[in-house]
Amino acid sequence: MGSLSDGFGRRFHYLRLSVTEVCNFRCTYCLPDGYRKAGPQDFLSVDEAGRLVSAFADLGLKKVRLTGGEPSARKDLDAIIARVAAVPGVEKLALTTNGWNLADKAEAWRAAGLSHLNVSVDSLDPGTFERLTGHARLDQVLAGVDRALDLGFQAVKLNAVLMRDTAEGFAAFADFVRERPVAVRFIELMRTGDNAELFRAQHLSGLVLKDWLTANGWRPRERGFDDGPAIEYEHPRHAGRLGLIAPYAPGFCDSCNRLRVTARGKLRLCLFGDGGIELRDLLQSDTVRPALLARIIDSLGAKAAGHRLHENDPGATRHLAQVGG
Ligand code: 5AD
Ligand code: SF4
Repeated sequence: MGSLSDGFGRRFHYLRLSVTEVCNFRCTYCLPDGYRKAGPQDFLSVDEAGRLVSAFADLGLKKVRLTGGEPSARKDLDAIIARVAAVPGVEKLALTTNGWNLADKAEAWRAAGLSHLNVSVDSLDPGTFERLTGHARLDQVLAGVDRALDLGFQAVKLNAVLMRDTAEGFAAFADFVRERPVAVRFIELMRTGDNAELFRAQHLSGLVLKDWLTANGWRPRERGFDDGPAIEYEHPRHAGRLGLIAPYAPGFCDSCNRLRVTARGKLRLCLFGDGGIELRDLLQSDTVRPALLARIIDSLGAKAAGHRLHENDPGATRHLAQVGG
């Protein structure tokens, strides 16, 4: 059927769907005081999520990522995975998790149809990991990563937020991917509404990582046509890759290929955009699908060329658990 594009010629095959705002971790840059219940926990149901993804699939969607908060905070996550995986047209179904129960759950998620997995691991040093997340669970998370590798997911990736506190860990991540076919992607710390002070103290340019990679024999890979914004590096003696996501780099938004929907069913055109377009009223039955498609298509006309983080404007985003990273 149709295809989704905006006024800047960007095409959107990729939907990031948050399934909850709840998280059990307390990452310093995201939810330093932990998740605080704000209003009813009326997140999209399995049926609503299924209808939403079916509508986007009608418009050419090929990849869905389930995010949060921590998606596995939902007891019905397996059912959400199964429902979304069954939508015709969805070729890749990914999940971003902090990995706390991955060792136990990876098999069920794979069986339900999950194809790609991103695990947030900011540090391979147990003490630093605990200080950054509030949990002494590094071993548990890494056991989950190895379990996932054994299960044959199409890709297992690690996300690490690049900060002054984590920059000393590059060598440890390089060792980690020597034998493991895993891509570790460092994400430059982004300023959100809630983390201004930490941002000032901890933000580090991705150039620090690039210099380290170059000095240690890592070379940038050719970029594929549908690649997201990560630049990945490879090394002849390492099975895995190291990469950088640099949202402050010029041109970062030019390759934007994604849309977001919040856990309560609002379409967010940009991670740092304001407000959002309500879709939930049109997720209550299959019969209103044409109206849902029309609203999605109309909304895209409003997608801005880029975020305004450079102007120190994080939009309405207080922390990323709100919209899915
Ligand atoms: N800056 C950069 N990355 C962030 N994440 C959450 N908040 C931020 C931020 N302010 C990352 C998490 C996780 C993903 C979901 O988003 O570390 O890897
Ligand atoms: Fe939870 Fe992810 Fe936020 Fe950490 S970054 S507190 S794991 S939602």
